[in-house]
Amino acid sequence: MSDVSSRWCDVLDWDSQFWGLTVARLRELPRSREDLVAITEWCSARGVDLVMALVPASSTSALALLSSSHFEEMDRRLTLVGTPAAASASTVSTSHTVVRVAHDGDKSRLGDIASVSHRDTRFYRDRRFPASRADDLYRQWITNDIDGRADIVLCADVDGVVVGYISLVINADRATATISLIAVDPQYVRRGIATSLVRQGAMFCADQGVTSLSVATQRDNQRAMAFYHSRGFRVAHEDVWLHRWT
Ligand SMILES: CC(C)(COP(=O)(O)OP(=O)(O)OC[C@H]1O[C@@H](n2cnc3c(N)ncnc32)[C@H](O)[C@@H]1OP(=O)(O)O)[C@@H](O)C(=O)NCCC(=O)NCCS
Repeated sequence: MSDVSSRWCDVLDWDSQFWGLTVARLRELPRSREDLVAITEWCSARGVDLVMALVPASSTSALALLSSSHFEEMDRRLTLVGTPAAASASTVSTSHTVVRVAHDGDKSRLGDIASVSHRDTRFYRDRRFPASRADDLYRQWITNDIDGRADIVLCADVDGVVVGYISLVINADRATATISLIAVDPQYVRRGIATSLVRQGAMFCADQGVTSLSVATQRDNQRAMAFYHSRGFRVAHEDVWLHRWT
């Protein structure tokens, strides 16, 4: 007999290895208490330590069911959508900023920026994750993007100092692209550096035939929200990240 319960979750190999835990992600939303029981049984049969779920904010009944089963809300994720044309139109003067393709020699510096820049995310909100490992996660993330997970990683130099990055993934449809990560060294914010990074990234995407850019961020990340709005991005949908530990 096939394992019927396996329809509910996938074990995430990369995440499990990184955290030293068995981490799974819910694939289908529960519609009843029986579904919740099936999920719980599947997780305990496989020794799952953490199951994560990304649920549309509009799915109120699924959210209520999951909350009743010890899934805790960790983050409200907003997906914003813009166009390369709008994102590359900028009036900010950044004469001291040079944007260039990042290479292996930038990994350490970009990792340092990444490790202090994404503290609004669920990996920090969920206190079960050690904060130092969450720092490592973002260091690893930008390293993996440079190693080829992203289609392009750009970094910004100011007077020879690397002060920020953007990584972009062109999606399988080749018409849309996603900002994987973007950050600017806290000492260099509000100088138009992210604007320059997005502009160059958007120009790269437009050259590749991309017509739509998206990015996910936390609803509570007010700096990021203000920044994306200023670059012409608008909220397309809202999802909720939930975690349940066993
Ligand atoms: C969000 C972030 C990338 C912006 O970088 P930045 O280089 O400071 O952005 P810019 O200087 O190009 O800002 C352009 C515009 O965005 C808006 N903006 C940027 N930061 C803002 C803030 N803290 N508060 C309000 N508006 C802000 C403003 O309209 C700004 O124009 P202005 O300075 O002329 O008013 C930076 O704050 C950062 O690295 N944050 C941490 C990482 C992060 O949250 N990344 C996004 C999610 S992956």
